[in-house]
Amino acid sequence: MSTTFQLDTATSRAHPTPSPLRRLSVPAIRQRKVDGVTAEPVVMLTAYTARQAQLLDAHCDLLLCGDSLGQVIYGLPTSLQVTLDMMIAHGAAVVRGSYHAVVVVDLPFGTYEASPEQAFASASRLLAETGASAVKLEGGAAMAETVAFLTQRGIPVMGHVGLTPQAVNVLGGYNARGRSDAEAEKIVSDAVALDKAGAFAIVIEGVVEPIAIAATKATSCPTIGIGASAQCDGQVLVTEDMLGMFERVPRFVKRFADVAEVISGAAQDYAAQVRARSFPGAEQTYQPK
Ligand code: KIV
Repeated sequence: MSTTFQLDTATSRAHPTPSPLRRLSVPAIRQRKVDGVTAEPVVMLTAYTARQAQLLDAHCDLLLCGDSLGQVIYGLPTSLQVTLDMMIAHGAAVVRGSYHAVVVVDLPFGTYEASPEQAFASASRLLAETGASAVKLEGGAAMAETVAFLTQRGIPVMGHVGLTPQAVNVLGGYNARGRSDAEAEKIVSDAVALDKAGAFAIVIEGVVEPIAIAATKATSCPTIGIGASAQCDGQVLVTEDMLGMFERVPRFVKRFADVAEVISGAAQDYAAQVRARSFPGAEQTYQPK
């Protein structure tokens, strides 16, 4: 589908043509999975900017303003340096750029782990100041009490188990999780604990297929895989990875385009034309009336 947008400068919203789609709701995503079966897989991509959201919105059920923006947008070494203010600024941009998808914003490291009350203070700011519909947090059974606390107070929560990048210093890297039987069982029981606590969906990252299948079977809410098998109830990727913006990407990432090549090719052509004084062309030159 080809969508065009007209920017309303008063509200900063981009109005899509053809007619605006209605925004999906958190319960609609949760209800995709009926009696353990998700007939229509859940489509999620990351988005960090308004323009990116505009382009992805019509094709996605969920847009995740993930804390991966630390590495992707800011060139930070990990997501641990990402702040609540950064997530609020980018989350609000994604909401402004979208009409259809449910926007989920990551709670960054250090803003929710200490207590359910700390999580509520951070999550309520995220929802109030961005207009997003839900937050995502990392961690399994240890976060179940917090997930219940938030959902009972009007804040929908997406969980995230398996490879949890905010725990990189405990995990010792970004390798796949669940290599031992005990660790595999823990990941499945973490997903079950979040599901029981009221999470509306759970990201499962970096696990082998049998763990993803077991977690998907054991939970009543949709599982959303990233490097976790096609058997999850949905999939998510970092948009810049699937667009081919980076040379190095995780092995499980399928590239759907080579945008890095397009950008550097365009910059090279531009630079050559400037240096040859063949730019701007006559049609781009300012003509006094
Ligand atoms: O921060 C992020 O982008 C994420 C996804 C990779 C699931 O958590």
